Amino acid sequence: MYKILTLNNISVKGLERLPRDRYEISSEIQNPDAVLLRSANMHGMEIPGTLKAVGRAGAGVNNIPVTQMSERGIAVFNAPGANANAVKELVVAAMFLAARDICQAWEFARHLKGSDREINDLTEAGKKRFVGFELPGRTLGVIGLGAVGVLVANTARAMGMKVIGYDPQITVRSAWRLASDVQPVYSVDELMAEADMITFHVPENDATRGLVNAKRLGLMREGVVLMNFARSGIVDEAAVVEALSVGKVHAYICDFPTNTLKDHPRCVTLPHLGASTHEAQDNCAVMVADEVREYLEAGNVRNS
Ligand code: MLT
Repeated sequence: MYKILTLNNISVKGLERLPRDRYEISSEIQNPDAVLLRSANMHGMEIPGTLKAVGRAGAGVNNIPVTQMSERGIAVFNAPGANANAVKELVVAAMFLAARDICQAWEFARHLKGSDREINDLTEAGKKRFVGFELPGRTLGVIGLGAVGVLVANTARAMGMKVIGYDPQITVRSAWRLASDVQPVYSVDELMAEADMITFHVPENDATRGLVNAKRLGLMREGVVLMNFARSGIVDEAAVVEALSVGKVHAYICDFPTNTLKDHPRCVTLPHLGASTHEAQDNCAVMVADEVREYLEAGNVRNS
């Protein structure tokens, strides 16, 4: 009997891949053979001596001490691409939110007071204040052309945007899946200088931490829109707040509600919802459950 410890809710569709006659699965199990998790933080956690595998039902593995796991011979699996469509849809929604100031306009409308007649009159002020822009013809910059970046780039092309992309590690596979008219650029600075909207799809590591800083913000177009559904550390939040306050950045839409950002009127923060669709949770859980099972039962390694 294999013992599986779950540190977060894992979709039933995934758990069903681990037959109950061979797998005992619980959030309280002792001496587990494997751990399945979403965003739970394993840094600082005592690692059981029985542990052979960790399955992250998501793309990023920065909540897992991967080096420490490798040193102890524990395999770490993730689910690359399994939630890519969910993230893409939220990024596309963010583009419309920013272009039409939907959150700010909704906030304005919610706070209107008076009779319907008076509210109707006050509505005129909102109409004057929230004049948006349309996406066709605008330039989207995509940093990171992995599973999510490629989907975002192709969708933006289909919506009539010009798309430029940067990825120092682009693979043949991701290049092949890009629409032919997504234009590659060869430096982050070049992309930042040319884009009206910029979206980030890279992991957080030494090379990407603070990728958006005061100097790079200075290179950007006036009124640029920034979207970050990857990791918070990619962006220097204090520098972005400063740029939002002077109008250099029109809006920052991100998946990380921090104290620095969450109350700024031009910043829309969401509680890490990129992968939170039923479909994405099922896809991720099925992928990691299969990976962990193949590893425990046959020693096969996929996405490690
Ligand atoms: C990811 O890395 O894919 C996301 O952070 C997943 C999640 O929110 O669980």
